[in-house]
Amino acid sequence: YMRDAKIATVYGADVTMLEFDWGKAADADAVRDAIGALATEGKSPKAVLVTFNETSTGVTNPMAELAAAIRAEAPDTLILVDGVSAVGAMPLEMDAWDLDVVITGAQKAWMIPPGLAMAAASDRAWTAAESATMPRFYFDLVKHRDVLSKGQTPWTPAVGIFFQLEAALTLMEAEGWDNVFKRHAACGASARAGLAAMGFDLFADGAYASNSVTSALVPEGVEWSVINKELRARDLVLAGGQGKMKGKLFRIGHLGDVSVDDIVSAIEVIEEGAAAAGVPIERGVGPAAARSAAQEV
Ligand SMILES: Cc1ncc(COP(=O)(O)O)c(C=O)c1O
Repeated sequence: YMRDAKIATVYGADVTMLEFDWGKAADADAVRDAIGALATEGKSPKAVLVTFNETSTGVTNPMAELAAAIRAEAPDTLILVDGVSAVGAMPLEMDAWDLDVVITGAQKAWMIPPGLAMAAASDRAWTAAESATMPRFYFDLVKHRDVLSKGQTPWTPAVGIFFQLEAALTLMEAEGWDNVFKRHAACGASARAGLAAMGFDLFADGAYASNSVTSALVPEGVEWSVINKELRARDLVLAGGQGKMKGKLFRIGHLGDVSVDDIVSAIEVIEEGAAAAGVPIERGVGPAAARSAAQEV
């Protein structure tokens, strides 16, 4: 959400940031109160930006609840959703939740290289786009929509990625969307159970833990760089923490082309690698927990 605030500021918006503790979800009541307070000051927001899935902390915000709270307080506001690490990995009901713009990126659940962002817009968003005055050129959605009716794009697109996307969508549709979401839920449950069983403290609030990325704290007394070196030597690439959580947090990404077997293998490598880095770990419990948690999804 910090990125959203920076982008909106660059484009000239007067931004009010609502902060929640890292690892915790955005709270619908707090959002409602904040919008109400702005309205009282005569500054009812034209748009509310929400990150559906916080990739940096492994938290999935309660999007439907947040959207309902926003809509109740500011019926005409635009609800703009960063769904980059959520869409395609977990259910999202753009119309039912009354969202206005949702974006995602090729490199996440869509299993293909970066270079293409997808955006969906509501009627409310199209009306706003037609009269908006913020500067834009390449990302002028109205231009994109208008030439789309001729099967074209206004500028040179990353053509190769469109072909890759077509192949990815064919795979996803063959698997079935419910199965795709269930596979991600199973991977999330597996990653959380495996790490917890090995003694790692999960970072995200359990009620809002993401099914596309799992975060855990680096154990006291061991450097992340030391553990990471052991993992990389065993061909496992994890992400570290960002911002104030750099060196304190590590993350397992599990969205896109990922299976429970992949997660169990990753847990096995983390067991070995972390043990080699000096973390006391009881052998075998992590992979077993990872395997059985997935079966309960
Ligand atoms: C939630 C979220 N938003 C946006 C982005 C896109 O950021 P960038 O274009 O810097 O990769 C990412 C990428 O990782 C993300 O996870």
